[in-house]
Amino acid sequence: MEEERIAIIGGTGPQGRGLAYRLARSGRRVVIGSRDAERAEQGARTVNERLAGTESVAWAENREAAAGSPVVILAVPYRGHSDLVQSLADALAGKVIVSCCNPLGFDRRGPFGLDVPDGSAAEELQLLVPEARVVGAFHHLSAVTLWSAKEDLADEDVLMVGDDEHALTVAGELCAAVTGRPGVVAGPLRLARQLEPLTATLISVNKRYRTQAGVRLVGVNLPEMDQDVDIA
Ligand SMILES: NC(=O)c1ccc[n+]([C@@H]2O[C@H](COP(=O)([O-])OP(=O)(O)OC[C@H]3O[C@@H](n4cnc5c(N)ncnc54)[C@H](OP(=O)(O)O)[C@@H]3O)[C@@H](O)[C@H]2O)c1
Repeated sequence: MEEERIAIIGGTGPQGRGLAYRLARSGRRVVIGSRDAERAEQGARTVNERLAGTESVAWAENREAAAGSPVVILAVPYRGHSDLVQSLADALAGKVIVSCCNPLGFDRRGPFGLDVPDGSAAEELQLLVPEARVVGAFHHLSAVTLWSAKEDLADEDVLMVGDDEHALTVAGELCAAVTGRPGVVAGPLRLARQLEPLTATLISVNKRYRTQAGVRLVGVNLPEMDQDVDIA
């Protein structure tokens, strides 16, 4: 049986493109979504050129991409997040949705976490699509690192938050495909309130030390991943 596709909504941006690249490189079937089919095609072409013909990603408008995939990665800015989610709610219902959205603001003192009425973008998403199985992940894995020439990213941990064990298992397997290490379950979805703004701290570190800081936890022994996780 052919493996199910992973849709990346907002896959034309640096984060979505980077995730598409890493997932496709590890053999996953990926479709890049956009509000505009031409932009989606251009985004897929950029990733496919990088993959040099070994694998290839597909493209579609966001709705079509989401409707045809059991797993959806949401890689859009917080600005416009609720409008976009509401416009796709029927296509997202019942899906495992992995959100990497970080509601951040920037002013002259640097990045900071925005106050979000529902607590976090991931909780907002869950409230807008109650039938979805939402996980927050990839919040602090930078697009620059994803798109870099590094062979694997196993020196990074990906913290995940969620209330649905199946969705956490699926997201953990995606983390393993992207970095070489399974994701770390940090706790329930409400902890997205702490996880999303953490990235403001990393961006601030990056600016000061001119680097691409990532996250690595000490003292956590991650279990081996089951390679045959059914993502449907
Ligand atoms: N960049 C990073 O290093 C990084 C790291 C971790 C997490 N994140 C998070 O991942 C998300 C995506 O990051 P990014 O840097 O890739 O963002 P981005 O380039 O600003 O946006 C990604 C894509 O989202 C779509 N989009 C933009 N504005 C939209 C709106 N108002 N409504 C609906 N769709 C819109 C666009 O695609 P179309 O125009 O083609 O539809 C755009 O290419 C953000 O929430 C960010 O906080 C980013």
